Amino acid sequence: MGQGEPNGDLIRSIREMLGACDDGLSDLDSHRDLVFLNLEEEIRRYQSVIHGALQALAEAVDAKDAYTHGHSTRVSAYAKHLGRDLGLSPGELETLAFGALLHDVGKIGMPETILNKPGALTREEFEIVKEHPVRGSEILASIPDLREAERIVRHHHERIDGSGYPDCLSDRSIPIHAKLVAVVDTFDAITTNRIYRRAKSADHALRIMLEAAEGQLDLELVLRFERLWNLGEMHPILEDNLREGAGASGVVEREQAPAGCGALECDHGLLDIVD
Ligand SMILES: [Fe+2]
Repeated sequence: MGQGEPNGDLIRSIREMLGACDDGLSDLDSHRDLVFLNLEEEIRRYQSVIHGALQALAEAVDAKDAYTHGHSTRVSAYAKHLGRDLGLSPGELETLAFGALLHDVGKIGMPETILNKPGALTREEFEIVKEHPVRGSEILASIPDLREAERIVRHHHERIDGSGYPDCLSDRSIPIHAKLVAVVDTFDAITTNRIYRRAKSADHALRIMLEAAEGQLDLELVLRFERLWNLGEMHPILEDNLREGAGASGVVEREQAPAGCGALECDHGLLDIVD
């Protein structure tokens, strides 16, 4: 073999080395695919466990009040529809759904005698009820994945005019997702039975909400919700509740806000009707 001529052995060796590299790379590829598959499966399993636990927690809260069966689940379902219409990303929608599902989780330690009281609440009782957004946000603050949802829980009773609680935030200071939950929470509270009030129709609820929008609810969100409601896609959420007949009997019309208090100061939602 002269100088500059290809060395057959060398070429063979290089080919073998390249072949081994190819095999190694394809092994690596399939190994990586397997790792990703396992990871995705683990994440799905983790999410399903978390979701199940949070759903159970929300149901435990609703079960404390004989009249709020399914309330948190419906609020979450309405919130997802409205959030999707707003163009929220999948991640934002998930946060919104969890925040809506757990908005009243702070009621978990609250006396049932207050939650199920058919008559007007005293000022002291109402002060206890008003603690639930902060209690709820404290529960969620300990779960890193739910930090964003925690803001929804804390602020779902703030009002546009700043007369809400716990932080008296007004309009632009209130997180948009909390404003959204306030709208759907109000709708569900009016359209389902409470121990102190019978359910009203959806049309009636939307009328009250539009009247209240100026000071309490975000008008644009109420109008958006009304348009969505009129499209009909959300009707099954309410119809399922009516079929189950949740809290259908024993309603006592509660007098308005606690004695000695103005409605804005004392009710824990919209004119004493929101949870
Ligand atoms: Fe609440």
